[in-house]
Order: sequence, then C-alpha cells, then structure tokens
Amino acid sequence: MTASSTAQAQRTDVIAEARRRRTFAVISHPDAGKSTLTEALALHAHVISEAGAVHGKAGRRGVTSDWMEMERTRGISITSAALQFAYGDTVINLLDTPGHADFSEDTYRVLSAVDSAVMLLDAAKGLEPQTLKLFDVCRYRGIPVITFINKWDRPGREALELCDELTERIGLQPMPLTWPVGVAGHLRGVLDLTSGDLIRYQHTAGGATIAPEERLTPQQAAADLGDDWTQAAEEAELLQASGGEFDVARFFDATATPVLFGAAVRNFGVRHLLDLLVELAPRPTPRTDTDGATRALDAPFSAFVFKVQTGMDPAHRDQVAFARVCSGVFERGMVVTNASTGKPFATKYVQQVFGQQRATLDTAYPGDVIGLVNATALRVGDTLYTDKPPVRFPGLPNFAPAHFAVARPADLGRAKQFRKGVEQLGAEGVVQVLRSDRRGDAAPVFAAVGPMQFEVAAHRMETEFTSPIHLERLPYNAVRRLADTSQRPIVDNGRRSEVLTRVDGAELALFAEEMDLRLLLRAHPELVLESLVAEGN
Ligand code: G4P
Repeated sequence: MTASSTAQAQRTDVIAEARRRRTFAVISHPDAGKSTLTEALALHAHVISEAGAVHGKAGRRGVTSDWMEMERTRGISITSAALQFAYGDTVINLLDTPGHADFSEDTYRVLSAVDSAVMLLDAAKGLEPQTLKLFDVCRYRGIPVITFINKWDRPGREALELCDELTERIGLQPMPLTWPVGVAGHLRGVLDLTSGDLIRYQHTAGGATIAPEERLTPQQAAADLGDDWTQAAEEAELLQASGGEFDVARFFDATATPVLFGAAVRNFGVRHLLDLLVELAPRPTPRTDTDGATRALDAPFSAFVFKVQTGMDPAHRDQVAFARVCSGVFERGMVVTNASTGKPFATKYVQQVFGQQRATLDTAYPGDVIGLVNATALRVGDTLYTDKPPVRFPGLPNFAPAHFAVARPADLGRAKQFRKGVEQLGAEGVVQVLRSDRRGDAAPVFAAVGPMQFEVAAHRMETEFTSPIHLERLPYNAVRRLADTSQRPIVDNGRRSEVLTRVDGAELALFAEEMDLRLLLRAHPELVLESLVAEGN
C-alpha cells in the first residue's frame, strides 16, 4: 500500500467507526432508576450475564459496587465518566451524569459531550426538579431526547397523564413507540406501535436476567387481554391523532420525543430502548470550531475536555481530564497539542488508573471518551489536537447557578494567594466567581450549580493555594440575567436582591425567592430580566 492509500483507508475506517457510535447520557432525578437502567442496558448487551453487580439490590446478588467495580469484575471499559460496550455492531458510550450530592456544573457539562439523551422518568412521579434542569440544558443545546417511563411494574400515574405532562410543562411533544397494556402495577405487556403487536415479557427471578419476550398479533392480543388491550389501543390512537405520530425529523430537531414504557428492574422495555438508540439516535457529527468551520470526522485527531476530576487526596495531586473525541483516531501514547496553551501533552498514561482491561482504550474514535491521567495542565473546555490544521472548539458555557457563598480568606496575611486561587478556580470553572463594587474584591461570591462545588473549591484553596477560606452561604434561590446594565440600581435597591458581575461580564441578578423577583417586576415593569440556562460559550 502507498502512504496515500493507507491514509485513505484510515479515513474510511474513522468514518465507519464514528457511524457505529451512539454517545448519550441518562438524565433523571435521583431514584428514578438510572443505575438500574444502566445495568439493564449492560445486561442486554451481554456485557454482564446477571444484573445486581452494580447496584446490589435486595433479593438480587448482594454485591454493592459501582461502575469501576463492574469494570474490574467484568472486564469492560469504564472510566468514572463513561461506560462503553458493544451491542451487536454498535458501540454504545453511556456518559455518567452525577446526581444526588454530586450534582454540579460538571453534570451539565457532560451534556456537551453527548449526541442524545435518555430522559428517565419514574411512572409515579413524572417530571421531577433535577430532570427538568437537565432537560433545560438539553433543550438549550438542541440535544434529541428519548423518554423512558420506568417502574411500570408498580402503581403509578396514567400513561396519558404522563404524556400530557411532557407537552404542558416542557412543550415537548410525546411520540409513543410503545404503549403499556394494563395499568401501572399490572403491566400485561406493551403495544408495539410500529408493528401493532403486543409484546409480553416473562418475569425472571429477581429481574437478574434478560426477560424473554413473546410477540402476539393484535387479534391474539385482543382475544387474550380483552378490555386492557382495547383500552391501550384506543389511548395510543388518541395520542397519535393529537400530534403524537412518530416523526424522526421532530426527534432530531428536539421538539418531540419518542416515548417508551418499561421497568428497568425487571428488564422490561430495555431491549426496545437499545434498539431505538441503534436505529434512531444521532451518531457523532463534525464539530464546529471557534471560527465557525467544521472539523470533519476524518480530520486528524481532535477532542475537547468536558470534565476534570481532581483527587481530594492532597498526597496525590492527581487529576484526570475526560475528553470527547471529535475527529480522527486517538492512540494511546500520542502527543497532542493543547490549543489553549499551544503546549504538547503526552497521553502515555491515558486511563492507566482505572481497571485492568486496557484493550479497548488504546484506540478511540469520534464519540468516544478518553480519560487522561496526570492532566494537571488541562482545563475544562480545552481542545486537544494533533497535526495541522490546528483547531479550537468553543469553550463550555457557564450554567445557571443555584447556590451562592461569599468567600473570605481565613488568614488575611495570605491575600495574594487568595486572589490567585480564586482567579484560577474561576478560570477552571470549579465555581463561577462573581463580584460587585459593593462587596469589594476581597469578598468574591462563589456561585455553583451544586453545593459540592464549594467543597472542592474550599479544599483546593487550602491545599493547593495555601489560603484556607471561610464560606458564608447567601440566601439566594432565584437568578436571572440583567439585560440592561443601567437598570442595576433597581435590583440593588430591592429588599432581598442584588446584582453581581461574573468574570465573563454577565450581570446576574440574584433574588432570595422567585416571589421577590415577581414583586420587583410588578413595581418596575420596565425591568428586563432574562432567564438563564447557560451563558457564554
Ligand atoms: P438512581 O440511580 O436513579 O438513583 O436509581 P436506582 O437505580 O438506584 O433505583 C432507585 C430505586 O428504584 C431502587 O430501589 C431500584 O430498585 C428501584 N427501581 C429501579 N427501576 C425500577 C423499576 O423498573 N421498577 C421498580 N419497582 N423499582 C425500580 P431501592 O429501594 O433503592 O433499592 P432496592 O431495595 O430495590 O435494592
């Protein structure tokens, strides 16, 4: 082979590999069943042969562990940020969106690295606060969303009511692909709206293995299930007639969502979800750089860092940077250039800290996630690339913060270290740094999506910048962007509100409660406040 034909073959290879990738995240509220669904997906992809390993459920195998444990025992490639497995000929990259106490700006940033999202709802609860926040970010980024309504094996709300909630609360048109037969708690199967057949699931012991499926024609289903079948067919028809007919274009432009019903803990509906991801979910596409040009998938390697994890152990200043590959082939050992600094970065230690099975991590293609170890020089939003032409992707936006705290140096003699640390943490996006003349430079306000960000910031101020801090929480719960700077005094003079300026220049108006905001707007109808999902690039 000549050099040019080898290069051509490699490019074809990259395109084919990118097409096989489905990179997505599950967005949900804690307890909706994300870990259970993750495990059920792995079970269906035959990555594991029995569920219960990840999450140690009562009545199932009593092993409590997490993704890393799963990697060790099953030999699949997982970083603490992404789980990768093959399903048939497709490579699934499932990115983790930390929830619970770990909910932070990083959770939102993960969504900049996916091509689609699965919105997981608890059938008894519908849309919950954390899901709504994550959905807002998906909407802002135009990420197509598949909805999986979970826990249909136990009593919950009605299917039509849950679908109505999607339309009414978030303006997302539901397009059911399956419809439950029998009320929540008495699931008799699902109506497959593509074929018109009934899919009936068999229970397995503790839901530990794949639930075998049985397919019945509509005639057989009607004879077997009587009224439950007729009702399901009527409801599904009603929804389809009111705009819920499946339309792939509407899924892609993120105005409508395919809806599936199931029970992750019993593995019901999970195969359907995987097949849908394979058939329908967007695959990696060329990413646009800061000049507005697109970096072709088969261009030389490029990636962007969407998450940086710093070890909390001061003895090891370890830092892992997670990057999504945007173009070309990544090979371990490559020396890449960091577009922000122009400096080279050696990837010898990629993934070295996690697990034992390295095989699949030596090479990565567009859509994959790589974890770069010893990456103290890398920051969230950095672009990495090899060869010419250089490329820089837009940095990641700041997201609407929900928690605020004034930071003050514990030791006034360390003002210089304090300033340097605050500047650095702000630049890295560990917290957003806000200031105002009123508060002065010595008392910046840290703003965060989740309170854990404060802990990380305080820890790093003490250990890395040798300037321990005191954080005093501020009682603000509502935030908007001030559109017109001249209106600043209106907010500053409000009873429980003030305006702070973020380092990127955005003026954020903070209010104790939504009620304070509404009262101020009533008194000053001329005040222009914009709601804020994400800001900047
Ligand atoms: P999360 O990661 O989203 O926080 O949720 P997780 O998977 O941990 O699930 C939360 C609870 O919901 C678990 O129960 C889990 O078993 C249950 N669950 C998940 N999917 C289903 C489902 O399809 N049907 C039903 N009925 N329950 C489901 P738990 O009480 O916390 O644990 P365990 O007692 O079941 O071990």
